[in-house]
Amino acid sequence: MNNNGRRGTRGSRGKILISASSALIVVAVASLAGAQQQALGPPGDTAAVERGRAVLSEQCGFCHGANARGGSSGPDLTRSALVQEDENGKQLGEFLRVGRPDRGMPKFDLPDARVADVAAFLHAEIYLASNRRLYKILDVLVGDPKAGQAFFNGAGRCSACHSATGDLKGIGAKYDPVALQGRIVYPRRGGVPGSPAYEDKNAIKATITPSSGAAVTGAIVRLTDFEVTIYDAATRQMRSWLRNGDTPKVVVTDPLQAHMDQLMKWTDTDMHNTTSYLASLK
Ligand code: HEC
Ligand code: HEC
Repeated sequence: MNNNGRRGTRGSRGKILISASSALIVVAVASLAGAQQQALGPPGDTAAVERGRAVLSEQCGFCHGANARGGSSGPDLTRSALVQEDENGKQLGEFLRVGRPDRGMPKFDLPDARVADVAAFLHAEIYLASNRRLYKILDVLVGDPKAGQAFFNGAGRCSACHSATGDLKGIGAKYDPVALQGRIVYPRRGGVPGSPAYEDKNAIKATITPSSGAAVTGAIVRLTDFEVTIYDAATRQMRSWLRNGDTPKVVVTDPLQAHMDQLMKWTDTDMHNTTSYLASLK
């Protein structure tokens, strides 16, 4: 994982700091009858929370940490008054449109719905942080495995890339339910723990085409408006270029794009059902 958290750089979204964290248990909090109302209530729309988690890890995690608890350069967002007082992304959205570029916080042009997702995730994190005891009594397997199977093979299009008898065979035995849901939402970190994110086979890649010479593709180590560094797995070497507008040409690809795209469309019910289905694959 890289720690070149330089202030004031835009476009460092290639960086993913992932902790497939146990906080995914958010999912069942909503179903806890009589959960005590705190300053922020229990997360209602858990699919929004999970989408928010994905957006945050992709776009903000490099600076604020994948769980928003503070990262290479950005503060802990769960302690931010602005976030705590936010209503459904309204104040957060206003802030993001402007940012604080002079202090290393870029501005973001995210659709309102995505900002609302990020807010839902941050509020869920704040809620869980103040309700640690809830962790124990959560149960993520509240869905219908049959409906999950139908979704997996149908509308969810999971079977385009996965198979219950192939790559996901026995996945229910491999992970406990919470970890399993973590893998669905956050499949990126597949590598050896502690190894750099760019060595993950699912790392976000960039293809660099210099004005003369052949194109090179590698996992993004660093990407700003001014420079790009990739890791060339074949030669095990880093390569860097200075950027000036469109020179050299940089095309970013995410091996998990389609997986993420599907995730963005999930409803709460889909999430519960699919998790229950995959958990049944022992
Ligand atoms: C390049 C690093 C970087 C990225 C990427 C980034 N931030 Fe920040 N962010 C910062 C820094 C640095 C600050 C502190 C600015 C300051 O000192 O006022 C900050 C401040 C904030 C604050 C204000 C906290 C407060 O109460 O003052 C919020 C909210 C925030 N960021 C949300 C986000 C969200 C949401 C994203 C992703 C969509 C994001 N940031 C992406 C670096 C970043
Ligand atoms: C276009 C391809 C694509 C689609 C569609 C897709 N995924 Fe994935 N998924 C991937 C890739 C690639 C990985 C990473 C596999 C790896 O690291 O070995 C992955 C990882 C996973 C993992 C983690 C596996 C493990 O062993 O940790 C799960 C679980 C998963 N996907 C479930 C789903 C579900 C459920 C859907 C449908 C909603 C879905 N995927 C849709 C490509 C896809």
